Amino acid sequence: MKAAIIYASTHHGNTKKLVDAIAGKYPVTVFDAQTVPAADLTGYDLIGFASGIAWGKFYESVERFAQASLPEGKQIFFLYTCADNSRDFAASLRAVAAERGAEDLGTYACKGFNSYGPWKLVGGINKKHPTADEIQRAVDFFAALVRKISSSSKDGKSAI
Ligand SMILES: Cc1cc2nc3c(=O)[nH]c(=O)nc-3n(C[C@H](O)[C@H](O)[C@H](O)COP(=O)(O)O)c2cc1C
Repeated sequence: MKAAIIYASTHHGNTKKLVDAIAGKYPVTVFDAQTVPAADLTGYDLIGFASGIAWGKFYESVERFAQASLPEGKQIFFLYTCADNSRDFAASLRAVAAERGAEDLGTYACKGFNSYGPWKLVGGINKKHPTADEIQRAVDFFAALVRKISSSSKDGKSAI
């Protein structure tokens, strides 16, 4: 079974820290949506979308990649970092996935350093985020998805 993560992390590389930690532990193919606009994802069983949040949504490059490349009927998940982790910022991308008949396995989100707009004047907020603990929890989240897929696979073998 093959896994891919499509990400964009243009503000401070906050989301990339989560993606790098996962890809450092698991054999995941990583696509940077800022430089790769689309890819053939038909051979991937598990597909993650990861992004910082701008104006309440995943970055446009990730949304465009999903529109261009998400095949029908995939198992998917979402990762994001944001300034204010109290809302569901994956909603619009989740709607795209639902149109493609995707099985949504869940979302992991945490705070990320933000120095956009007025926050720049005070040196930014969430300066220490994502923390080592938050990064580890992203890896744990991915590990749980792999376990879930493994336990539901026909032969019961490790999924990844
Ligand atoms: C242009 C811009 C708009 C943003 N809009 C939001 C927002 O609507 N809600 C939020 O919680 N954070 C917002 N943020 C904060 C980022 O989502 C946050 O800093 C995130 O961790 C950046 O991730 P990255 O470093 O991976 O790009 C915004 C940041 C920028 C630069």
